[in-house]
Amino acid sequence: MSTISLINIGFLVNAGHDQEVRRGAAMAQLPVLEQAYLEIKDDRIVDWGLMKDYTIPEYHTVADAAGGAVLPGWCDSHTHLVFAASREGEFIDKLKGLSYEAIAAKGGGILNSARKLNATDENTLYELAKHRLESLMQLGTTAIEIKSGYGLTLEGELKMLRVIQRLKQSMPIPVKATFLGAHAFPEAYKNNPGGYIRLITEEMLPAIAAENLADYIDVFCEQGFFNTVQTAEVCNAGAKYGLKAKIHANQLHVSGGVETGVALGAVSVDHLESMDHQAIQTLAASNTIGTLLPTAAFFLRMPFQPARQLIDAGCAVALASDFNPGSSPSGNMNLVVSMACIGMKMLPEEAINAATINGAHAMGLGYETGSIARFNKANLILTQPVPSIAYLPYAFGTNLVKKVMVNGNWI
Ligand code: NIG
Ligand code: FE
Repeated sequence: MSTISLINIGFLVNAGHDQEVRRGAAMAQLPVLEQAYLEIKDDRIVDWGLMKDYTIPEYHTVADAAGGAVLPGWCDSHTHLVFAASREGEFIDKLKGLSYEAIAAKGGGILNSARKLNATDENTLYELAKHRLESLMQLGTTAIEIKSGYGLTLEGELKMLRVIQRLKQSMPIPVKATFLGAHAFPEAYKNNPGGYIRLITEEMLPAIAAENLADYIDVFCEQGFFNTVQTAEVCNAGAKYGLKAKIHANQLHVSGGVETGVALGAVSVDHLESMDHQAIQTLAASNTIGTLLPTAAFFLRMPFQPARQLIDAGCAVALASDFNPGSSPSGNMNLVVSMACIGMKMLPEEAINAATINGAHAMGLGYETGSIARFNKANLILTQPVPSIAYLPYAFGTNLVKKVMVNGNWI
């Protein structure tokens, strides 16, 4: 292996700051070094500084950033990347006026994806997911969390988690697996919610733990899905197997999911489209990260998440794509960052922190990726030359990612 000198960096983003979660006012702190270089030895970041002070060692491989910005790769901490088929038929239904809940009530939505997933073999699911992940990596995603939750049967959930396990083993970026058996009540348990909760806690969880298939546990805490008592029951059962909670909370309604998640010591509560004063204050007073999914709000035509209120209250906010066939059929984190600024009035600095270091922490990876820190993984985005960092979210829809580095290699 060699040492790379990446020279002529226009803006080196988030270098030399600490690796802690950014919360409240600190979310706007994004140190940027102009006219900089970065040294990468093997798969790690080892040094950086200003070009004017730099003499390139003779034996280094030189890469020229040509005035582009260099950022830590996007850390997408909430996705449903493993699915069998797209759902643009429902998209058309929605254009014609049906609501998300109405589509779910007639067997569409999550249950539609579950039927298709159960009818698809593991290899096919793996190939589809691998292809999606490779496309996202080209757009700058260099760490990702992936949920199950389209199986809703013992076999289906295990199949999804085995696919995620294979991605973990075969892909060069960190992949975290979340068990989301409590995504919806399957048809067979429509009138027997207790029976499904028992299936999750007594059959699925032990089987998943036996193969060590999950890092986190998740529940869709929402009216018509899982209430707060059921959410706590499932998460407490997961905790017995060492799984920390990451919860779908307060998406469609003020569900109590935030308070429940905080009480459970969840790593993150995600969505947060529907927040009240108490939910915001509870989150702000906790160590739980609030993960906002602006493309899901956009796609479902819901009001965007109240990012300003959350940050002003002192919350730690992360941004993620929620990539899934129902509510966010895009995993493009560049778009997520733009939309957070445009739709939620997050400052570019806040949005970049939310999509990098805070996203990394929402996956337990904050001390190995998500910032330019010594001995962090060299997982980086190199952009086209830009006039400023604010240009990145401003020029929404333009692909400014020129190259992506993973473990010290351009991909
Ligand atoms: O995060 N809200 C619950 N789950 C997904 C949507 C799943 C689906 O519609 O397939 C979400 O938005
Ligand atoms: Fe989700």
